[in-house]
Amino acid sequence: MSHRFVRYFPILAFALAVASAQSGPIPQLVKQDGKYRLMVDGKPFLMLGGQVGNFYSYPDMIERGWPGFKAMNLNTVEYPVYWNVIEPEEGRFDFSGFDRILTGLRSQGLHAVLLWFGTWKNGAMDWSPNWVKTNPQRFPRVIDSGGHPIRSLSPMSKVTLEADRTAFMTMMKHLRELDEANRTVIMVQVENEPGSLGSVRDFTPESNKLFAGPVPAPLVAALHKQPGTWKEVFGRIADEAFNAYYLSGYINEVARAGKEVYPLPAYVNVWNGGYDSNDNFEKFDRPGETYPSGGAVAHMLDLWKANAPAIDAIASDDYHQDPIIYLKVLDSYKRPDNPLLIVENGGPIAARGVFYAIANYSAIGYGYMGGDWAVEAQGLDMAPVGADFRLVQRALPVITELQGTDKLKAAIEERGTGARNLIFTDYDVLVRFHPPGRNAAAVLNTGPFLATAAEPSSRVLIAELGPDEFLVLGFSSSVEFRPAQGSDYTAAQLVSNEQGLYENGVWKTTARGETAQGDYTGPIVNLPANGALVKIKLMRY
Ligand code: DGJ
Repeated sequence: MSHRFVRYFPILAFALAVASAQSGPIPQLVKQDGKYRLMVDGKPFLMLGGQVGNFYSYPDMIERGWPGFKAMNLNTVEYPVYWNVIEPEEGRFDFSGFDRILTGLRSQGLHAVLLWFGTWKNGAMDWSPNWVKTNPQRFPRVIDSGGHPIRSLSPMSKVTLEADRTAFMTMMKHLRELDEANRTVIMVQVENEPGSLGSVRDFTPESNKLFAGPVPAPLVAALHKQPGTWKEVFGRIADEAFNAYYLSGYINEVARAGKEVYPLPAYVNVWNGGYDSNDNFEKFDRPGETYPSGGAVAHMLDLWKANAPAIDAIASDDYHQDPIIYLKVLDSYKRPDNPLLIVENGGPIAARGVFYAIANYSAIGYGYMGGDWAVEAQGLDMAPVGADFRLVQRALPVITELQGTDKLKAAIEERGTGARNLIFTDYDVLVRFHPPGRNAAAVLNTGPFLATAAEPSSRVLIAELGPDEFLVLGFSSSVEFRPAQGSDYTAAQLVSNEQGLYENGVWKTTARGETAQGDYTGPIVNLPANGALVKIKLMRY
């Protein structure tokens, strides 16, 4: 505020200063009527995120990514906070880079998710400070079955836990001071793909003794198992379960302590794999070998849920490109006790993944890896995800309102699928996909049995807004409406067809579309390859 302003409008200046110092409600993950919602500024929010490449979380690098964030239509940037950067010497904290990154993102109108790279990052200890790395007597590493230390800190160590917890709490306290009035940060990821890569568990004599003893009674009870040793209770996955128990307890304590200081939603991400929740069918997929042991992989989810109540969500990273495996991961992580949250994703499936996650799994957020590279290195690779985000942002109030109901549905092309029929209250809808090289007329004339060698790219979300009213958004498709089978009506026609967007919750029309010319089958909305968002009114007769 300028001096002149304060001089001429002192009361208004005072009111503005008071208002800006007041905090909005803290972001929260709530469950209402069986549905999870991420509340930001008191309203349901859907994170449309991009994750900063993990080596690039420094102010200069992130600022170079600003145009990319804009081009990708993000509302949130996920970025690492490195323990070794904020606490280079024990007890001496440096938040200069932290502050610049956060206030910079805020100036861009973006929200942020902090990724705490503390004890674990991808099953290793690489982002712990040097005073931790170089003192294995004080901060023990996991010892493998051959008696050798590995490059991963032991989850059995109370001393390491204390050091990580102190650093995390100091960061959360600083964050609260810096951000409470603005709520730029909406969630915190505690550690990154935690686990031990290089050994299934710790094999020190003390750990071996615990492993030979009984599984703690609260865990046995929570999992509805019979008491016994780790081997008796968990059989072939006993070593992994043992590691998961100590690891989830450790991370729960870090998260719990951080929330005591500033209670933001906390989640854990997962390098998935292994056993019968296997998402890698083409290799021996073993904990500690091909994926970090002890993380919240699908077959350890019950254990993690029982042992880490301070963790609000468990988010599996999902880079699979085969839609069957991709969706298997989403199926495993969307549970009555866990919202679907994808914070890492990539590759050509990602653009379809956004629509799957939002409509079929009521995701509270979707993030792809490499947000800052979108303009520079990744070029147009992720452009389809950015296009999804553009349309989804414009329809956000409707989407967050209808997620988890049968009024929001998706039709998504996969190989060998030419169309998809969706059933709404008063209408049946047929979405015909237009794969590259085919035009609408060809599709209409040849029917839905189309195959394409190219990556499937047609994807549509349809929201039923009220009787005879729909919001349709998507790409490369035509969407035809008919009165519901068995109703008293034989046909339908368009009454209005408007392109536009929601601004502050209110629909704003930007163009009035023409209704399909000479359509012989019924009212059709065409969605071009670069996407459209259309609100239509229909009538039946
Ligand atoms: C998964 C990890 O969680 C990320 O930190 C990053 O390393 C990506 N893999 C890279 O693809």
